Formats: sequence, C-alpha cells, structure tokens
Amino acid sequence: MLEDKGFIEEAIDPKMKLVEEINRLKKEKNAVILSHFYAEGELQDIADYVGDSLGLAQAAAQTKAEMIVFVGVHFMAETAKIINPSKKVILPDLKASCSLAESAPADKFAEFKAKYPDHKVVTYINATAALKTMSDIVCTSANAKQIVESFPKDQKLIFAPDKNLGNYINSITGREMVLWDGACMVHEQYSVEKIIELMDEHPDAEFIAHPECEKPVLLLAKHIGSTTSLLKYVQKSDKKKFVVATESGILHQMTKACPDKIFIPAPSADSTCACNDCSYMKLNNLQKLYICLKHEQPEVTLSNEIIEKARIPIQRMLEISK
Ligand code: 13P
Ligand code: SF4
Repeated sequence: MLEDKGFIEEAIDPKMKLVEEINRLKKEKNAVILSHFYAEGELQDIADYVGDSLGLAQAAAQTKAEMIVFVGVHFMAETAKIINPSKKVILPDLKASCSLAESAPADKFAEFKAKYPDHKVVTYINATAALKTMSDIVCTSANAKQIVESFPKDQKLIFAPDKNLGNYINSITGREMVLWDGACMVHEQYSVEKIIELMDEHPDAEFIAHPECEKPVLLLAKHIGSTTSLLKYVQKSDKKKFVVATESGILHQMTKACPDKIFIPAPSADSTCACNDCSYMKLNNLQKLYICLKHEQPEVTLSNEIIEKARIPIQRMLEISK
C-alpha cells in the first residue's frame, strides 16, 4: 500500500486539530520539520526551518534532532539522509519526485559522462543520489556560480541535470560547460510574450526570475536568483510590485515578509493550468505530514555505498558554502 501510493492512507477525525497534533508528535519524537519555500503556506508555517535547497541542506547537516521530517521532494530528503545517515529521515509522500531529477537517469548519465573523460562533474542538487555518486561536486542555485568558479578556468566541466541553470552559469562565468539536457517543468512553462504584456499592464512592477527559467525569460529579469535570493531582493527593494517567475509557494513568504507589496505570479503559456505549482511539492499536505510523523513512515533509505559516495560531493559543496 505504502509502496503503491507513496504514503500511508488513514482516516483522520475531521475534528482533530492537525497543527496541534503535529507539534505534539514532533516534540514527543524529537523531530525537526524542514520545509522548502515551494510547499503550501500552512506547511511552511508549521516548519522549524523554511528555506531554499542550500539552506535546507545546511539545516539538515546541523540539526540535533533525532528525526528529520522533510516537507519537500525526494532528492532533498535523500540529501538530508546522506549528510546525516544516523538520523531517521521521513517524507510525507515518497512520490514527491522532481522533473529535473527524473530527467537524468543514472545509467544514461554514466554513458554521457564516459564521453568526456577529462571533465569534472558539477551536479545541481536537484538530482538523484545515484547521480551524485558520479559527481565531483554538488551545487544549488544559490551557490552554483561560486562552485563552478572554484575550479581552475581551464578545467573542463559537465553540468547536470539543469541545462537552463547551466546555460545561465556559462553566461555569467564565461565557461563552456557541457550541459546535460534536463529541465524543470515549472520553470520551463513561462511565456515571454505574456510576461511582456503583463509588464506593460504593470509598468510600476519589476520582473524577477529563478535561474531554472529559460534564457529568453531570464533576459527580461531585473534580478535572477535562488528562492532565498528572490525573497531577500523583494524585501530590500523600494519597488512595491513584482512579477515572479518561480514556483508559487515562494509568494507565501514574500507576502508575509512584505505585506504592503504586491506579488504577481509570472504567466504561463497555458493559461488554463496551475503550472506555477510544482505538482510534486504539492503532494505534501497537513494530513500526510501528520500520518507520516505518527507512523515514522515513509522513510527515506539508501544503501551505505550510495551514502558514502554521494556524501563526498555534497560535503565539498557545504565546505565551500560555509
Ligand atoms: P532553490 O531552492 O535553490 O531556490 O531551487 C528551487 C527548486 O527548484 C527546488 O526544487
Ligand atoms: Fe523539481 Fe521543478 Fe519541482 Fe523544483 S519546482 S522540485 S526543480 S520539478
């Protein structure tokens, strides 16, 4: 049942105060709840730490709790397990995957890597643990430039799995990294024409974007950065209105931090979908979080061999990003 569905199905008394129960279980089990900015607002609000992928990896490395509950997607929970293998790591829904991580199957990547024997591999954290075992260093969107620049200029590099982030880092560093052809389904669906139209309707707004977006979208952006960087930017800016090209969950923190400012999600090519929502992130909800904490399942487990090999490139990144 758990394997089929990705979570334990259990009827919950509709009168139960879920937030109170989650907090009670968290204390009882000495657990810490880590949430990405893309989770639903009510999940972000119950978390002990909310952040971007780098902040979450750092928080997972530092926690004193016995159990880590990851309100995010599978690669994030895997990373927490790799950094802290003695802790139990649980994820409300095992099916919370990531289109980027899925775009780079380990066997196909191994064949690709073999074509470039003199290249080192920089892997975006949005990748499976298996891919990380084939990498020299891991990066996130917050530190990708710094990580790439930590290699001598003449060192040939492969960047995987996000071609858009890789392209962007090539453009700001002057490198010519070989790119794996992967992308995030949320960040690839923005319409340049509709963004231009929207900006014309809101001449007082500023357009900001996550570097997982395609180049034509990034060319329109006043600021490009990780979710934490975008959040800090809107807090510091004198502007009162922003059009935001990244997953909609970040608007929760932006609105909380700047209640007097207006945040408009960037428009998608398909106006009939909820395309700014990451369907994987949105598999998490309060009910599943409660059941997961109660049963301490689904648990994210990895073989010792994978943990040992994948830890090296993640640890290198954490050292550089201290
Ligand atoms: P950051 O957390 O680095 O901003 O990346 C966003 C993302 O896509 C996470 O899945
Ligand atoms: Fe993966 Fe994109 Fe969802 Fe982030 S937003 S978890 S990159 S599919």
